[in-house]
Amino acid sequence: MRTTSIVVAGLASCALSSAEYDYKPDVTSEALQELITIEDLMAGSQDLQDIADANGGNRAFGGAGHNATVDYLVKTLEETGGYEVSTQAFVELFSAATVELSVGGTEYAGSYMTYGPSGTAGASLIKVANFGCNATDYPAEVSGNVAFISRGTCDFRVKATSAKAAGAMGTIIYNNVPGSLAGTLGAVGDYAPTIGIDQDDGQAILAQLGSGTVSADLLVDAISENRTTWNVVAETKEGDHDNVLTLGGHTDSVFAGPGINDDGSGTIGILTVAKALTNFKVKNAVRFLFWSAEEYGKLGSFHYLRTLNGTISGNQTEVSKIRAYLNFDMIASPNYVLGIYDGDGSAFNLSGPAGSAKIERDFEKFYESKEKPHVPALFSFRSDYAAFLENGVPAGGLFTGAEVLKTEEEARLFGGEAGVALDANYHQAGDTVDNLSEEAFLLNTQSIANSVAMYAMSWEGIPKVNATIAKRDAHLHRHHAARDLGHTHEHLSGPCGASTLLK
Ligand SMILES: *[C@@H]1O[C@H](CO)[C@@H](O)[C@H](O)[C@H]1NC(C)=O
Ligand SMILES: *[C@@H]1O[C@H](CO)[C@@H](O)[C@H](O)[C@H]1NC(C)=O
Ligand SMILES: *[C@@H]1O[C@H](CO)[C@@H](O)[C@H](O)[C@H]1NC(C)=O
Ligand SMILES: *[C@@H]1O[C@H](CO)[C@@H](O)[C@H](O)[C@H]1NC(C)=O
Ligand SMILES: *[C@@H]1O[C@H](CO)[C@@H](O)[C@H](O)[C@H]1NC(C)=O
Ligand SMILES: *[C@@H]1O[C@H](CO)[C@@H](O)[C@H](O)[C@H]1NC(C)=O
Ligand SMILES: *[C@@H]1O[C@H](CO)[C@@H](O)[C@H](O)[C@H]1NC(C)=O
Ligand SMILES: *[C@@H]1O[C@H](CO)[C@@H](O)[C@H](O)[C@H]1NC(C)=O
Repeated sequence: MRTTSIVVAGLASCALSSAEYDYKPDVTSEALQELITIEDLMAGSQDLQDIADANGGNRAFGGAGHNATVDYLVKTLEETGGYEVSTQAFVELFSAATVELSVGGTEYAGSYMTYGPSGTAGASLIKVANFGCNATDYPAEVSGNVAFISRGTCDFRVKATSAKAAGAMGTIIYNNVPGSLAGTLGAVGDYAPTIGIDQDDGQAILAQLGSGTVSADLLVDAISENRTTWNVVAETKEGDHDNVLTLGGHTDSVFAGPGINDDGSGTIGILTVAKALTNFKVKNAVRFLFWSAEEYGKLGSFHYLRTLNGTISGNQTEVSKIRAYLNFDMIASPNYVLGIYDGDGSAFNLSGPAGSAKIERDFEKFYESKEKPHVPALFSFRSDYAAFLENGVPAGGLFTGAEVLKTEEEARLFGGEAGVALDANYHQAGDTVDNLSEEAFLLNTQSIANSVAMYAMSWEGIPKVNATIAKRDAHLHRHHAARDLGHTHEHLSGPCGASTLLK
């Protein structure tokens, strides 16, 4: 693995004495932006790609590729000399599985149903009536064979339990809407090995069943164990530590691929800004947060806020020191839009805590100053900003889009291809260093630099968090007046990743 070498002209990257610090200029947007280059961003992305390549093609929580990502971040941040760097360890349940499926001699791509047992089955495939929610849906032939059940009406757990009760040796659940089907059985239970498949494959198999007996062979090889993982926290040594700017991205990928846009782009974007920032003086401290286990349900960010200052319930005194949180999860999507979280609620009728509107407006002004278009992005609660919104911290950030298809209107505004996903490689093996939009990556990282420079010098227009009303907006009503750019993390985890989709 090669290391990044971002050397800022004329300035050593080792620790500076306080005299040297005093000599540094105050940070400005222009000066910080000037230090952001596409060469550095791509070199950092290549480092993450190399880490994935050396560790089975992914950087998923609980695996060696994620360990190496954490080590890389700690080392790179420590080398700047400008930060107090720490890791926050926490333990989460890791579950993953290899699944294999062949029906009538044809191989199909199956997905693990989280909490399902390991095992194999080779027998006839028997179609279950309706949605398999009722014992009467299971014909007697299910006993000793493999049950074939449509998604719908009841939880996957009910289907898997009923199939086992009817004597099934294995269970296949097929999607009733487009897309693959990676769900969860919700808890450990009495199930046969269970696999999810997509709608097209489900229909193809149904057609075969219509014309005679079909055999199915399935294998589930699952592991479920508690594993330690780490958030990485780096706060400027200088600046007011009672009025802190926080910004973050997640360090884990899904199992299916290296995760270089999701979220290598956010990771490297903020890391590059962190390095550049050490050349300047700040008035307010800046804390860079690198989250683990986002793909498992935003576990790192929620753990961090719960345990802030060592208290399990979350210490409101400490939360109140955080003046704002900026989130960067996918900022270089190949068929991108320039999305800004809708802090003022003008697009989606779902605003962030007081101050979020200014954060959104400040981002908008940046793109307008560069004569670039922008669109609002929904606070869907599907990335790490959710933990901050739920604690009353004003939040914002950038998002260039995931699995959702680009509209004609967006293609007119941003170029790219209408009718194609904003990121065709979302949660797949193709999310590599070769499939980033360099244009979006550079512009958005300059945009991060602009916001960091602004809030590192002044909190004007952004009120301090009122800890007593902090948790009020926990589950805001959502009115999808405008369009969501995707990023259905909890519903589309990789073939081996844990899913929270229950039915
Ligand atoms: C990750 O690092 C921890 C601590 O060093 C170690 O215990 C664990 O085995 C590592 N995981 C892998 C998959 O290498
Ligand atoms: C199951 O089906 C039977 C027979 O159709 C019906 O009487 C019963 O109410 C159903 N149970 C549930 C839980 O739907
Ligand atoms: C994981 O840790 C939790 C909390 O300590 C415990 O309840 C659970 O049984 C553990 N799970 C496994 C699979 O070890
Ligand atoms: C909690 O915050 C106080 C004051 O900022 C600090 O002195 C102390 O070290 C912190 N404790 C932990 C466990 O972080
Ligand atoms: C919260 O942290 C502050 C220091 O920042 C400390 O004085 C206070 O005791 C902590 N509160 C709790 C409930 O731990
Ligand atoms: C906006 O949301 C609020 C609840 O949060 C609701 O009362 C109001 O009717 C919504 N307005 C629109 C235009 O949907
Ligand atoms: C790049 O993305 C395309 C889909 O847009 C995919 O087919 C291809 O495999 C990816 N290339 C690499 C090198 O990952
Ligand atoms: C925080 O909000 C509560 C409830 O609205 C209010 O009573 C209190 O005065 C506020 N505190 C500050 C410091 O603004």
